[in-house]
Amino acid sequence: MPKILIVYHSRTGNTEKLAKAIAEGAKQGGVEVSLKRYNEATNEDLLKADAILFGSPTYFSLPSAELKSFIDKSVDIYDKLEGKKGAYFTSAGCMENAEQTLQAFEWVYSHYGIDVVGKLACVEKPGKEKIAEARELGRRVAKALLE
Ligand SMILES: Cc1cc2nc3c(=O)[nH]c(=O)nc-3n(C[C@H](O)[C@H](O)[C@H](O)COP(=O)(O)O)c2cc1C
Repeated sequence: MPKILIVYHSRTGNTEKLAKAIAEGAKQGGVEVSLKRYNEATNEDLLKADAILFGSPTYFSLPSAELKSFIDKSVDIYDKLEGKKGAYFTSAGCMENAEQTLQAFEWVYSHYGIDVVGKLACVEKPGKEKIAEARELGRRVAKALLE
């Protein structure tokens, strides 16, 4: 069964709610899901995954230093991730800054050579609609792996 890895940081729980909803959607889509905080995940997890998802709060229009610290550790294996699928997501105080964080993730994924199949921006705590979008994102990533 294809494997999805979701790595996230969340200080006040908003990004974590998105991460959990994405995981639910992906499971419904029929793939194996590993949901890990930035300090629990390893480079080995990245190598084993068929799809890699990163989630972070927006801090100064960028992913948080916590999530970035995990990304920086991937420098030893980043060239072995090419061809995997991926998506990323963030929660911010305003949509404009959330979009800027998504752009930063885009640069990271272009270094990895990952095929981006979705992204999600949210303002503060996700409501019902954003949770539904997050589940849909999970299902979309699962579908991309099963195609
Ligand atoms: C250090 C720090 C920096 C932040 N910088 C921004 C920012 O540049 N733009 C913005 O819209 N929100 C900013 N925020 C607000 C958070 O992105 C927002 O509250 C988010 O929902 C928190 O996600 P979390 O609950 O997953 O931690 C900042 C919050 C903190 C603590």
